[in-house]
Amino acid sequence: MSAESTSGVSGAEERWADGLGEETDFWRRWLAEKGGDWAFDYVWRTDPSSPLQPYLTDEIPSPGAVVRVLDVGSGPLTILGKTWGGRTVEITAVDPIADRYAELLAEAGVASLVPLVVGEAEKLSSLFPASRFDLVYAQNCLDHSHDPLRCIREMLAVVKPGCRVALVHAIDEGEAMQYAGLHQWNFREEDGRFVIWRDGLRVDVTDAVSAIADVRVESFPEHRYLSVVLTRHAPGSAPARWRRWMRRD
Ligand SMILES: C[S@@+](CC[C@H](N)C(=O)[O-])C[C@H]1O[C@@H](n2cnc3c(N)ncnc32)[C@H](O)[C@@H]1O
Repeated sequence: MSAESTSGVSGAEERWADGLGEETDFWRRWLAEKGGDWAFDYVWRTDPSSPLQPYLTDEIPSPGAVVRVLDVGSGPLTILGKTWGGRTVEITAVDPIADRYAELLAEAGVASLVPLVVGEAEKLSSLFPASRFDLVYAQNCLDHSHDPLRCIREMLAVVKPGCRVALVHAIDEGEAMQYAGLHQWNFREEDGRFVIWRDGLRVDVTDAVSAIADVRVESFPEHRYLSVVLTRHAPGSAPARWRRWMRRD
C-alpha cells in the first residue's frame, strides 16, 4: 500500500458495499419520523433560509458573489446552510447512494433543495472539473468510505487552489462501532497531525498530502470529534513544512 491511498486492506470494498443497505434503512426511518429525536436537524436541513454555518464561511477565503460548495457523502439532505447574506450559495451534494436517497425523498414527499449527484468520494475528479469549488466539505462519511486517503486527495483535486477542504468526523469511529457496517476506519489527531488507522495500518495524512496541502487538526475528545482543515497550496505558495524550516521553528 502506498501513501496515495488506504485501499490495501483486504475486503474493505466488499464490506463497504454490504454496509450501504443499512445506511438506506437508517435514513428511511429518519425521513418517516421527520428526524425523530433529531427533529431540529430535519427542520434545519429542509429550510431554504438556513444560513451557511459560520465555521464554514470562515474557511472560505475571498468569497465572490457566487460561492460553490461541495458536500461529499451528504446523505439525503445536506447539512449545509443554503444562504450567506447577499451571496448566492451554490451547493452540490454527492453520495454513492444518491439515487436511493432521491427515491426516499420522493416517498417522503420532501424536495431536495440542492442537486444530488451519485458518486463516491474516491472518484470526485471523474464527476467534477478540477479546481471547481470554493469549499469542499465532508461530515461523518469518509470513515464510512472504502479508501479515505484517496477521498481526501480527490477532494483536494476539485477544490480551488488556495481554498479548503473541511472534514468533521468522530474520533476513532471504527473502534467505537467495533467495525460494524460501514464503520471501517479510525481518524485521530496525534501530536498535531491527522492520522488514519485501523488494524495493521497507520497513515500520517499530514505527511502524505504535504506536497499539495497544509493540514490543520483540532481534536475535541470530550465530545469525541475531530475537525480537519486542509488548505490546497496555491501556485507558487510554499508548503508549511518548508516555511517552518525557513523560519527554523
Ligand atoms: C452517516 S452518513 C452521513 C451523512 C451526512 N454527511 C451527515 O452528516 O448527515 C454517511 C454517508 O456516507 C456515505 N458514504 C459511504 N461511503 C462513501 C464514499 N465512498 N464516498 C462518499 N460518501 C460515502 C453514505 O452513503 C452515507 O450517506
